[in-house]
Amino acid sequence: MKSFFSSFLVLLTVSFACAGEIIRIDTKDNSLVFKVQDQKLYQLWFGAKTGDKLAALPHGTAFPAYATFGTGEVNEVALRVTHADGNTSTELLFESVIKEESGPGIVQTRISLKDSFYPLRVDLVFKAYFAENIIEQWAEISHSEDGRVTLYNFASAQLSFKATSYWLTQLHGDWGNEMNLKESRLTEGIKIIDSKLGARATMYATPSFLLSLDAPGAETQGETIGASLAWPGSFQVALEVNRMQELRLLAGINPFASQYVLDKNELFKTPALLYTYTNGGRGQVSRNFHRWARKYGIRDGEKSRMTLLNNWEATYFDFNEEKLARIIRDAASLDLELFLLDDGWFGNKYPRNNDQAGLGDWQVNKKKLPNGIGFLVKESQKNNVRFGIWIEPEMVNPQSELYENHPEWVIAQPHRPPILFRNQLILDLANPEVQQFVFNAVDDLLRANPGIAYVKWDCNRFIQNGGSNYLPADKQSNLQIGYARGLLSVYEKVNKAHPGVQLMLCSGGGGRMEYGSLPYFHEYWPSDNTDAIQRIFIQWGGSMFFPAIASCNHVSTVPNHQTRRVTPLKLRFDVAMMGKMGMDLQPGQMSAEEFAFSKSAIATYKEIREVIFRGDLYRLESPCESNRASLMYVTEDKTRAIFFGFLLHRKVGEFLPGVKLQGLDPEKSYLVKEINMGPGKNSYLSTHGKVVNGSLMMTSGISLPLNNEYDSIVIELTAH
Ligand code: GLA
Repeated sequence: MKSFFSSFLVLLTVSFACAGEIIRIDTKDNSLVFKVQDQKLYQLWFGAKTGDKLAALPHGTAFPAYATFGTGEVNEVALRVTHADGNTSTELLFESVIKEESGPGIVQTRISLKDSFYPLRVDLVFKAYFAENIIEQWAEISHSEDGRVTLYNFASAQLSFKATSYWLTQLHGDWGNEMNLKESRLTEGIKIIDSKLGARATMYATPSFLLSLDAPGAETQGETIGASLAWPGSFQVALEVNRMQELRLLAGINPFASQYVLDKNELFKTPALLYTYTNGGRGQVSRNFHRWARKYGIRDGEKSRMTLLNNWEATYFDFNEEKLARIIRDAASLDLELFLLDDGWFGNKYPRNNDQAGLGDWQVNKKKLPNGIGFLVKESQKNNVRFGIWIEPEMVNPQSELYENHPEWVIAQPHRPPILFRNQLILDLANPEVQQFVFNAVDDLLRANPGIAYVKWDCNRFIQNGGSNYLPADKQSNLQIGYARGLLSVYEKVNKAHPGVQLMLCSGGGGRMEYGSLPYFHEYWPSDNTDAIQRIFIQWGGSMFFPAIASCNHVSTVPNHQTRRVTPLKLRFDVAMMGKMGMDLQPGQMSAEEFAFSKSAIATYKEIREVIFRGDLYRLESPCESNRASLMYVTEDKTRAIFFGFLLHRKVGEFLPGVKLQGLDPEKSYLVKEINMGPGKNSYLSTHGKVVNGSLMMTSGISLPLNNEYDSIVIELTAH
């Protein structure tokens, strides 16, 4: 994923069309195998490593590797185009395969296909991340026909399976209720998960999903495929079970209303589908994705992260220098490492005092902050706290100077009233001039204030009524793809210009949880819902694909602003600790006892955060299946682990058994210690302070002193 590797290509093998050729894409435990037959490319196998035993493959059928329309196909296809002369059929023949080492432990395989008549080419490209068992696949389509070719379907990847039953687990949600897991059995016909939103693409559905073969998905066992499309725009995942009970999986950009007009010699590169296979259930899928993400899928994934204090729920738009300076001092006295100034700091002619005005005018509001951002940076520095700032540069309020000056920059259809969402419009990032404006908004801010260490990049609306003033009439349907590409190019420029600034990916909560954007961001905001109980579910869903190091979890006040629920401060901290912890409240409003607890919790978190950031996640008890939830992070060498347990709901007469730990070294013994109890509190954990054998804790389990609703516990295990 990361561009660092694109310059590192060592040629391994090249071969040209030859009948019966076998092409093997291997990772440590998996194989994806293709075969060339009658000049066409077929998928022979995807699953556990085959080695050389191909003849014994149980799934004896060969499936088209990248099905095209017009060759007798009666099922959903990966590629459907209309050629320049109007012919709607495409027949792809194998031409060559090149294998290159594209980085340490990464082999790239490029299989080139070309149409049997037209000068149209499709390269299927696979990057195999050996140790992490992840395959990254995309397609590159180009032509030199006399005129334009229109692409109607253009999947990133096609995978086929033959099993007795197929179980799809999707992640869906909405604002404040992101990442719900839902499983269903696939029946004959097509199941589509998609987004048509263009921007904020993961708001309702997400392009990350799990597929279990032969039985419903389980955490620790079963053939399971996890896949995620790396794309910030509209996506489509189509799963078709045919009359032979075979499953064809197609994933890519959503072709809906997005047929792409491809000029002669223009390269159309699809986004990548990332996928993994395991017979170790969902837990292993997640660990594969997390390990891959820390190394390749998120920015600086192997570096640490800062605790922070955010003023959004503390002040909303209502702040001035004095209020913020107080919050900065409070952050410092809690030993938090960064202060994050949220929405409301900009706009003068149309001040940003609520969500109705100011977006687009990225000049500091002189009334609220007469001494500029510089004053706040200095206040932060004085207090030994870093400074971060919110921005939503893709957007504009009609009440703004930007809109007055550039009404033509918004996405809208002529002769139709503009459609507002959160009182705002979205800028047309397919337009290079707009891309430059968005880049400048961020770049100017960071250049003028070199003390800014962190940026929260928000996106609070999606594309509706998509029309572009920039694109010609015959390319209007390129808009959504142009937007997503424009956005990625701006991200890249910002990264290059400001390599030292950390970025948080936010989209009205978790509307952008995907691996197209995350290589440019250090972390993401999973939800505007900071209620500890609902967050357990949201973070649980997010953990299927995204590592804890990237999940920003904030401790907020009670009653919670989203659910009005009142939960103990300890629970709120314990939930926030399962990721990158921050706070989103006014410390000045806490009691002395709460302040002391917070300070000690922050100190505890700093001691254990590297285990959470870098450890392997084992989900033990799902909040979706029981009144108790638990999980643990274990370091790769299995010498340290952090366990989290929560009682979500108290039911009289319910006696929950001990919880069986996972991922420990059965040969090792561990010192068991309850932590984050707060100053002067005793532990009721029966194993607290004892040295216990790893195997025993994994087979017999440990009993948890969680008796009352919202009780929670954090346990540290250290190899003895
Ligand atoms: C979005 C974000 C919030 C906050 C507000 C500011 O909703 O998700 O965290 O930044 O915008 O308007």
